[in-house]
Amino acid sequence: MNSHELCRLFSAPVQAAVATPSMYDDPLTGSESMGVADWAPNRRREFAAGRAAARLALSSLGGPVASLPRGPDRTPVWPPGIVGSISHCEGFCAAVAARDVDVLSLGFDVETTEPLPDDLHLLAFSPDEWSEIVVRSGQARVDFAKVGFSAKEAFYKCYYPLEKRFLDFQDVVIRFVGPVGDDPSGGAFSFAFVDEAFPGAHLAGKVVGRWLTDGKFICAGVTLARSAGDRPAQP
Ligand SMILES: CC(C)(COP(=O)(O)OP(=O)(O)OC[C@H]1O[C@@H](n2cnc3c(N)ncnc32)[C@H](O)[C@@H]1OP(=O)(O)O)[C@@H](O)C(=O)NCCC(=O)NCCS
Repeated sequence: MNSHELCRLFSAPVQAAVATPSMYDDPLTGSESMGVADWAPNRRREFAAGRAAARLALSSLGGPVASLPRGPDRTPVWPPGIVGSISHCEGFCAAVAARDVDVLSLGFDVETTEPLPDDLHLLAFSPDEWSEIVVRSGQARVDFAKVGFSAKEAFYKCYYPLEKRFLDFQDVVIRFVGPVGDDPSGGAFSFAFVDEAFPGAHLAGKVVGRWLTDGKFICAGVTLARSAGDRPAQP
């Protein structure tokens, strides 16, 4: 999956960057290294790759290439005027960034195509969602459990920076959109909150969700585009 393909996951102008193997050894900059001293080497390397990919995405946006420290809640702190999202899994790491004049929030997630452990099925999906997943996975050579899991993580990464609240997997219901062909390499999904009074529940109807697979990895992107009447705060 290359950066051009990753950009297709989003419904607004974004820049994506995939970490190359050498980026896992890139140095951390500024306060990025705070708190990482006691991390396991693999965790530190994936963190460095995510930061390096994020800086590449920032430079493609044409803005300043900044240090991206971690906030107290583990979220990356993007430069003013930028929103973005980082994801890594075994063998793949990428980042996506956009200008906040175009996008209110972004969520990006990547997973390997290894099946989900059984106990995660029960945690992540309601019986109704699971029925749809079983039907769709039977129609296509794609594991819709993994697509749905990645989609929900991408939704969380889009939702959290706006509402600063944890979401359980079963707080939202996923619907896969559109017909399934014999061997699709991608598709769309939408979300609804189970409890319509949940903080930020209105956001679910405004996001655009898309997924892609190359057979080795599954990626999901969630875009909350800025609407015309919705201007960013001036610095
Ligand atoms: C936060 C979470 C989604 C990360 O997903 P993951 O598959 O474990 O790991 P990924 O590599 O895809 O993503 C990790 C990156 O997400 C970013 N991130 C972490 N917490 C985040 C948050 N609350 N909001 C947005 N981005 C976040 C960070 O950049 C992190 O990488 P870094 O620490 O190297 O900077 C996951 O650990 C989690 O807590 N899930 C439970 C909540 C959830 O997904 N609910 C679904 C509701 S529908």
